[in-house]
Amino acid sequence: MCGIVGYIGKQKAAPVILEGLKRLEYRGYDSAGVATLVDGRFELAKKAGRVEGLILSTPAQRLPGTTGIGHTRWATHGGVTDANAHPHLSSDGRMALIHNGVIENYASLKKFLVGKGYTFKSETDTEVLCNLIAYHYQKEPATSEGSRFMESVRKSLRHVDGTYGIAVMCTDCPAEIIAARKGSPLILGVGDGEYMLASDVSAIISRTQNVVYLKDGEMAHLTAGNFAITTLGAEDVSPVFDTVTWRVEDAELNGYAHFMEKEIFEQPDALENSMRGRFAEDGSTAQFGGLNLTAVDFRQIDRVHLLACGSAWHSCLVAEYLIERFARVPVDVDYASEFRYRNTPLGRNTLFFTISQSGETIDTLAALREAKRKGYKVLAVSNVVGSTIAREADGGVYQHVGPEIGVASTKAFTSQLLLGAMLALYIGRMRDMSFSDGSAYVQALKGVPNLVRQTLLLAPQLKAVARRYAHFHDFLFLGRLSLFPIALEGALKLKEISYIHAEGYPAAEMKHGPIALISEQCPSVFLVPSGEMFHKVVSSMQEIKARKGPVIAIAAEGCDLPAGLADEVVRIPECHEAVLPIIATIPVQLLSYYIAAELGRDVDKPRNLAKSVTVE
Ligand code: G6P
Repeated sequence: MCGIVGYIGKQKAAPVILEGLKRLEYRGYDSAGVATLVDGRFELAKKAGRVEGLILSTPAQRLPGTTGIGHTRWATHGGVTDANAHPHLSSDGRMALIHNGVIENYASLKKFLVGKGYTFKSETDTEVLCNLIAYHYQKEPATSEGSRFMESVRKSLRHVDGTYGIAVMCTDCPAEIIAARKGSPLILGVGDGEYMLASDVSAIISRTQNVVYLKDGEMAHLTAGNFAITTLGAEDVSPVFDTVTWRVEDAELNGYAHFMEKEIFEQPDALENSMRGRFAEDGSTAQFGGLNLTAVDFRQIDRVHLLACGSAWHSCLVAEYLIERFARVPVDVDYASEFRYRNTPLGRNTLFFTISQSGETIDTLAALREAKRKGYKVLAVSNVVGSTIAREADGGVYQHVGPEIGVASTKAFTSQLLLGAMLALYIGRMRDMSFSDGSAYVQALKGVPNLVRQTLLLAPQLKAVARRYAHFHDFLFLGRLSLFPIALEGALKLKEISYIHAEGYPAAEMKHGPIALISEQCPSVFLVPSGEMFHKVVSSMQEIKARKGPVIAIAAEGCDLPAGLADEVVRIPECHEAVLPIIATIPVQLLSYYIAAELGRDVDKPRNLAKSVTVE
């Protein structure tokens, strides 16, 4: 949420920063801005709207200089206006600041600063922090300008309640940037004679793969040829270098119309990467390198608690079903944002998992911290190596699906489903699942990439269905058991990217309310299971049909649907129960994608959303 980029080096800063902002835009796209520092003054360009708009309206020569900061905003305090766009300058013109996060006590700080004569041009909490730094700077005894600048940032941050990832420049310090983080991610890229700051690695992978992940409460001081990391309390920190494995091509469209489309079609390979090396040699169970728990620890667990937000929360619901079904361990699933305030009684031998693609979602992070505070072990499933959640968890599993750029999660979601299924197998095999059931389960999981490849061949059919249904304003998505969360996910995907109202419901619950919505104007997408639930779901379909509701059925090849019951039948391959949710997800992703594309929506950057939600 909000993208931050900083550059200090030998190149012109603005083009590097703008390229980084374009790659970070999925974090927020309400406005964009860049400030460079040239001969002791700031050059500033900022504008409501997309980064592309800023680029088109800003001739390169307007932003000279080799030191600069830039920002793409997801609005929190203050509307989407040019004035509220970052960077913000202090009213004395000395400081320029970009910020990701929320300063909770901004109102009292603003009152204080207004009393001291500082003026404000925007409604943002960020401008308050910028003026606060300027205030401390002018009060600070004149030692060297660099340490005076550092001290003023440090003092200001001690007065701030809330979260931040910031980068600041000062006109008296021509080649310096100070950055700090608390609760919002910040990464330092160390290149060849240059340094970059960014809120995630996709902004910097085209220039360097050598990074230092700043921790909460740390500050970085960048100068033209050096950098130092300290704590807010001014203690030195030895940097820990990491190498990013993502390639720059992973973050490019490569001929696809949208990242979402690319990421849907990447799923066979992405899922292969998620499971690579994760099956035991005897072929009867899964294995994970980074759980940091022994088999004995796992045996002692009598409950699993899953925490996540958004699509990741839907993946938890599927994992709940599979862990209970195959490992016979009770599972609780919580929205991370609810768990942290709910104060739920917890058992003694509960194992927590957080699931988060970005590893930065603030509610999930706070829930992880709450569970750890209570003395529980928390494992994390995350796609972003080095993310805050991955680092703070006691262990976990990386998804390895490469960068997911489309705001609506696709390949990360199916990989979470896959890893949930593998965890169910892993825990199940430590309990009552037999060797032969385990082996059959492993074989089924190994077949996932090919089944997904086969299911993706439905794309032309779903494109045609999408064309026929794109003009409807309401949809129901209905499923049962492990397909109910996929109904939720289908409805979410459609809402997110096409702005069509959609609800996901357990198919049998439909008659307790949503059935009132049914008319010729409200299609229902049914996720039809084979097996014992088949006839029950068919009955629900009949109830819809009797009320003239159009029906789109997504059903396995062998399912013998009564003739004429569904208006559209989309046939997915038969598969193992643990794999079915993954396979059933593909058509709902394609349907939503093609409807949104048909309506000409901005698929990768849907209105009001951001990919990584780092504010509460
Ligand atoms: C945002 C995104 C969703 C995502 C959710 C959780 O709302 O738009 O697509 O599922 O955050 O993100 P996470 O990174 O924690 O999986």
